[in-house]
Amino acid sequence: SSCVLIGAPIDSGQKRPGCLMGPAAYRTAGIVQMLEDLGHRVVDRGDVALPVLEEVRCDNPAVHHLAETLGWTRVLAEAGQAACAEGMPVFMGGDHSLSLGSVAGVAAHAQAVGRPLFVLWLDAHSDFHTVMTTQSGSLHGTPVGYLAGREMAPLPPFPAPVPPQNICLFGIRSVDPAEHDALQAHEVAIHDMRVLDEQGVVAPLRAFLERVAAVNGMLHVSLDVDFMDPSVAPAVGTTVPGGATFREAHLVMEMLHESALVTSVDLVELNPFLDERGKTAHLMVDLLASLMGRKVFDRPTRAYRGQ
Ligand code: ARG
Ligand code: MN
Ligand code: MN
Ligand code: MN
Repeated sequence: SSCVLIGAPIDSGQKRPGCLMGPAAYRTAGIVQMLEDLGHRVVDRGDVALPVLEEVRCDNPAVHHLAETLGWTRVLAEAGQAACAEGMPVFMGGDHSLSLGSVAGVAAHAQAVGRPLFVLWLDAHSDFHTVMTTQSGSLHGTPVGYLAGREMAPLPPFPAPVPPQNICLFGIRSVDPAEHDALQAHEVAIHDMRVLDEQGVVAPLRAFLERVAAVNGMLHVSLDVDFMDPSVAPAVGTTVPGGATFREAHLVMEMLHESALVTSVDLVELNPFLDERGKTAHLMVDLLASLMGRKVFDRPTRAYRGQ
């Protein structure tokens, strides 16, 4: 199978510089060779470039870098939709604002081929703000709100919003009050850290994957570095203690591989400037390896389709 790598050197979605070095760090950590060693064909599309910016205005004075974010969203949606026709897009961030565009592109493709889209959000945060509710003004806190179809002008309306029941927030432990209220009003599937503490990662993830398989869904996985505990993944601007362990994160990835349901991936929020000798970049590449089929011993593929 083919993987299409798309570099998204973006750090305008938050205030700490450095995420724009992410794509270079993933390539330095050997992402291409890793995928080829697993038997995948790899097409590296290079990094997307920011187009000429339009002037945009919005009524929330906290919001920053709106014009850049709009530009990145446009080019990534286009690149993402085109990549879906060639293989499995892997978006190398860049901060999480890139998912405004990556998921928009994937959603447009899913709509064109007539398949329902599901989104697994592996993150400490719910990222469910809108341009109007964000208090930090950092738009990396808005992509789930956007893909769920919340009002996000001046961004273009999201193509084919993802039904809330098709969105699974996994590992979250930091939710702002405005996000909390909006999440309660929608029916987003939430497996916060309390759920994972009680049940582990296997049962909640399996339940979600079964729902994807039941309707032949496409599955987009968005992996934020801060899903993991800062002790194993320090290179991120928004560390939150109490994250997934090294083993839990790999187990999630191995289950995703065995499901054969994943059709696109984001790797986001890596800030190489904050890393310790490449530790986090290597972890992210190794997690992608588990998602793409690296394992110690073969396990039977789990029949999520109920054959
Ligand atoms: N909820 C906070 C905010 O809106 C943090 C968002 C963090 N998002 C992320 N993609 N790391 O500012
Ligand atoms: Mn995030
Ligand atoms: Mn996060
Ligand atoms: Mn960040």
